[in-house]
Amino acid sequence: MTTSFILNEQTIALDGDDPRESLLRWLKRRQLHGTKEGCADGDCGACTVVLLEPGNDGRTEARAVNSCLLPVGLLPGRTVLTVEGLSRGNALHPVQQAMVDCAGSQCGYCTPGFVMSLFAGHAAGELDDGCFEGNLCRCTGYLPIRAAAGRLRDLPAPIDEAPGSPNPARQALPAVELGTLHSPTTIDDALALRARLPGARWVAGGTDLGVDLSHGRDVGAALIALDRIEALQGLDVHDDQVVIGAGVPLRRLERALHGIFPSLDAMLHAFAARQVRNRATVGGNLGTASPIGDLLPWLLALDATVHCAGPQGTRALPIDRFFLGYRKTARHDDELITHIVVPRRADTRAASYKVAKRQSDDISIVASVFALAFDATRAVTHARLAFGGVAAVPLRAHDAEQRLLGSTLDRSTVDAVGALLRAAFTPLDDHRSSAAYRRALCDNLFAKFVEEHCSDLLPASAA
Ligand SMILES: Cc1cc2nc3c(=O)[nH]c(=O)nc-3n(C[C@H](O)[C@H](O)[C@H](O)COP(=O)(O)OP(=O)(O)OC[C@H]3O[C@@H](n4cnc5c(N)ncnc54)[C@H](O)[C@@H]3O)c2cc1C
Ligand code: FES
Ligand code: FES
Repeated sequence: MTTSFILNEQTIALDGDDPRESLLRWLKRRQLHGTKEGCADGDCGACTVVLLEPGNDGRTEARAVNSCLLPVGLLPGRTVLTVEGLSRGNALHPVQQAMVDCAGSQCGYCTPGFVMSLFAGHAAGELDDGCFEGNLCRCTGYLPIRAAAGRLRDLPAPIDEAPGSPNPARQALPAVELGTLHSPTTIDDALALRARLPGARWVAGGTDLGVDLSHGRDVGAALIALDRIEALQGLDVHDDQVVIGAGVPLRRLERALHGIFPSLDAMLHAFAARQVRNRATVGGNLGTASPIGDLLPWLLALDATVHCAGPQGTRALPIDRFFLGYRKTARHDDELITHIVVPRRADTRAASYKVAKRQSDDISIVASVFALAFDATRAVTHARLAFGGVAAVPLRAHDAEQRLLGSTLDRSTVDAVGALLRAAFTPLDDHRSSAAYRRALCDNLFAKFVEEHCSDLLPASAA
């Protein structure tokens, strides 16, 4: 069983290392100080490194990730590139050279993180602003960095000749056990491990659990990693539904489902930053069951079904019965989410909205997803109004949905629904927002949805 990984073209054995230690801390202990620590929370991007992994088309993909959130126990068999691995002797990598030429660095603290994000963006041919949405710079300003990205756009990016690129004959990652971190390759093995290790936690992308690990919080006696289980990686698009493996990283979802659910496209666009989305999964968003988990109102509005596997076999849990209380769900601790089925309805108008303090890489004040269908007389035949950030769990506004059913959309309906939405929830008053503001958002976001997506159905006087 291998416990080694490749770091900047060198094979490194991890025997004896603490598998929960973040890659960032591990690099520092090894005197690899190029990778910086800003927040240790996944928020600043100073710690960005690149994972070189086989993509679905068989080519190597460079994925920028936050090393502060990545436990080293997940690394065996993988290939990591840090900023130290880019240059060849005194010759800078073209990404580094572009930053120099465009004066993209002043104090330099953020620079290795930007360089690694640009490296990944260059390799993927994705040098838009999203490529460094997860990187903060306090002193240079973003214009010179954007100029460096612009310069790189014209350069070819032969990723298979990139430093540290793995052998093109790629194989599935093997099962690994490193101290208290176990990485099985099948669902059965994962469940058998959980039966042997009661109290063990599942870890998928680690973008949620990684924050706890990074801050030394207790996450349980053992961890069972799900990111090598091929059966959790399925993504099947059918005419009537989409089946999403619980372990599919959001970035893959974003690319593969683009255009199929515009309401998902919008929510993923506002979800964290690319480094986080390269690792974060839908299963992890459901597993966390945060009241501000952004995919949860989307799953509620689209009537998804959550499929779990456990010691008693498999079962399907309708999403509207999944959330029981604050971070408490109908899933048992020894069950893992295997996949999520999302129906496709051709007759529905749907959209999602996320309100946060910043446009990107920020958590929601309120997130909402609306889905309405109408008959030939313009009466509402199907209504789903789902919200996050308004209570201890993500919720649908059932009273408002009932008010809509059978009604046509006119000013009095929209006002009545708005009033019901203001009264529907008991949101928190906290540093992020007052409860009154959150209530007002529920009403206003619905009015915005009607305006943006249903204005052709409004009577002329109300449109
Ligand atoms: C900087 C930053 C920004 C973020 N921004 C957002 C945001 O905008 N919106 C948002 O919603 N979230 C955000 N998050 C939170 C996090 O990224 C998401 O919740 C993500 O979906 C978690 O997925 P994961 O695979 O990384 O979960 P993990 O951290 O691996 O696991 C999270 C929890 O789910 C459980 N779990 C994981 N997989 C399964 C499974 N298959 N079955 C059962 N349980 C499972 C784990 O045991 C754990 O309790 C952010 C996090 C960070 C660090
Ligand atoms: S140190 Fe800030 S994102 Fe990792
Ligand atoms: S160069 Fe100083 S923080 Fe970016």
